[in-house]
Amino acid sequence: MQDVKVRTQEIAAGFERTFGERPSVFRAPGRVNLIGEHTDYNDGFVMPAAIDSYAWVAIAPRKDSKLVAISGEFPEKLEADLHDTTRPRTDNWTDYVWGVATCLNHAGFSTTGASLLIHGDVPIGAGLSSSAALEVAAGFALLTSSDRQIDLLQLAAICQRAENEYVGARCGIMDQFIACHGRTDRALMLDCRSLEYKYLPLPPELSVVICNTRVKHRVAGREYNQRRAECEEGVRLLRQWLPNVRALRDVTPQQFRAYSDRLPPTISKRCQHVVSENARVVEAASALTSGKLARLGDLMHASHVSLRDDFEVSCPELDGMVELALAQSGVVGARMTGGGFGGCTVNLVRNAHVADFRSVVETGYEKQFGVTPDIYVTSASAGVHQVL
Ligand code: GLA
Repeated sequence: MQDVKVRTQEIAAGFERTFGERPSVFRAPGRVNLIGEHTDYNDGFVMPAAIDSYAWVAIAPRKDSKLVAISGEFPEKLEADLHDTTRPRTDNWTDYVWGVATCLNHAGFSTTGASLLIHGDVPIGAGLSSSAALEVAAGFALLTSSDRQIDLLQLAAICQRAENEYVGARCGIMDQFIACHGRTDRALMLDCRSLEYKYLPLPPELSVVICNTRVKHRVAGREYNQRRAECEEGVRLLRQWLPNVRALRDVTPQQFRAYSDRLPPTISKRCQHVVSENARVVEAASALTSGKLARLGDLMHASHVSLRDDFEVSCPELDGMVELALAQSGVVGARMTGGGFGGCTVNLVRNAHVADFRSVVETGYEKQFGVTPDIYVTSASAGVHQVL
């Protein structure tokens, strides 16, 4: 990982070359989810941690009301007046920045015109929330450069709205929330209904290792929105017998068992995953807190199996990567992480075993799938902040 000061100065220098003035610089992290997948939009529980990989935004206010943004990685440019209500969707990175600026304005946080240079270190399409990192970094940068204060909780909600309305992914709150609230060496247990949260220390003897299958995932994809619709249909049907249920979060495993076979098979499987996953997250939080690492590992594995068989969002590469990991010594837990259909696995590995884990999993995966995976050892990191 490059030194933060060096990286910051590089980005500031790049901004100065393009826009001719010194910027402020901000960054927001990607995330890895330890457990609690596809539960956030069901008002349930999640347990993500921010990773030490970031979206960076260098910014300076402008005298006019334009938003001008360029990227260090992509050729497309954003140039639009903040009052323009007709800008069409472009299906590239500029939609995220434009969406956040527009949603901030709609929420009463009007910002001034600004020039932005953006760099993204979070791998794209890997299920590590490069998009939430970009939204949160851009939103925080726009607000700070306009001298506006906002509560981080509100910022997360506004960035989620931007993704829902301007990108078309009906995502939940998890990714934007952790990009705002990440903390060094801590995972975060979040109740996605009340938005109450607590930080859970990660045991110092464990490393969080992320294995990227390099199968590209796309959250805006049809499948994600379809899963969400299936969960909503489950709620609608279950309310016939459980009228107080507002979301799958309200259904206990016992209640679900009583009615599951009255639901269409696919809907039943989707609900089975969400109901059981919520219970697993609650138990995982206490296992982590009380140092019951074997139990935590079992819960992570059960989560993977449920995502594979009931929610059906895994793929052969993710399953293969998890199996390879679980065959290594020193591995506490392994599962797919994020929306699925490709992307990464998250592995909790004892520090002393990380080097072996890395080389054996890399070789094994390459042999099985003909692709060299990317393997990152990450540390839980702080949420959005200013670096210059
Ligand atoms: C994506 C979404 C999140 C969440 C996960 C699955 O990352 O952006 O809101 O639903 O998938 O847990």
